[in-house]
Amino acid sequence: MPLIRLDKFLSDSGAGTRSEVKKLVKTGRVTVNGITAKDCSAKVDTCANVCVNGTEVYYSKYIYLMLNKPAGVISATKDKKDKTVIDLLRPPYSKMQLFPAGRLDKDTVGLLLITNDGDFAHSTLSPSKHISKTYYAEAEGHFTPDIVSVFEEGITLDDGYVCKSASISIDTLTEDRIKAYITVTEGKYHQIKRMIEALGGKITYLKRIAFGEIKLDESLEGGEYRSLNAEELAYVSSVKESSI
Ligand code: URA
Repeated sequence: MPLIRLDKFLSDSGAGTRSEVKKLVKTGRVTVNGITAKDCSAKVDTCANVCVNGTEVYYSKYIYLMLNKPAGVISATKDKKDKTVIDLLRPPYSKMQLFPAGRLDKDTVGLLLITNDGDFAHSTLSPSKHISKTYYAEAEGHFTPDIVSVFEEGITLDDGYVCKSASISIDTLTEDRIKAYITVTEGKYHQIKRMIEALGGKITYLKRIAFGEIKLDESLEGGEYRSLNAEELAYVSSVKESSI
């Protein structure tokens, strides 16, 4: 396993800038495999169990954050008019040139990954990776239970594009409203809204709850974020490594 300096491990894991993490070590707030660390220059395994104030942090060459995007902010790095998802970040992340991997509409809430790994962000856009995205959706309209097979067969959008087979799992269905979980494997512009519009309905609430195998951490309030954990990072690696 590769060995790196403890201060590099800590700063690459997002625990702080080099000088901030030095302070953390000096004040005894860092443990390596359960033992309080004393020396920033000590070499540690990139797979070591490293905790800051008792919470495990994970080494990664790149930063990957899971954000629970609130409504009203846009999925961009900067904007003249609107607040962006990057404006929600605090130091050290706000200083790190991060960007969103993919996008959610201004009024859509939920799981958005933020990173500085361009290869990963690029590969999530590749249709050949078939990354599924699951949304909890509420919509107005007159729907029937056969919406399940309509989604399966592929909905035709306003511009004639026929969507790939998608799934919808109905939570509540009334005369003029539906609450459901929708999973798609592509990311066309306003896709879910347009799929529902193609059926004569209108989305009133949309929340992304999963991106591939990464599920939204429901303990994050809107606007809060956290680093991906080891399991989630393994999924990120698998997406990057899959050759198709
Ligand atoms: N589909 C939409 O219509 N909007 C989003 O933000 C995401 C998927």
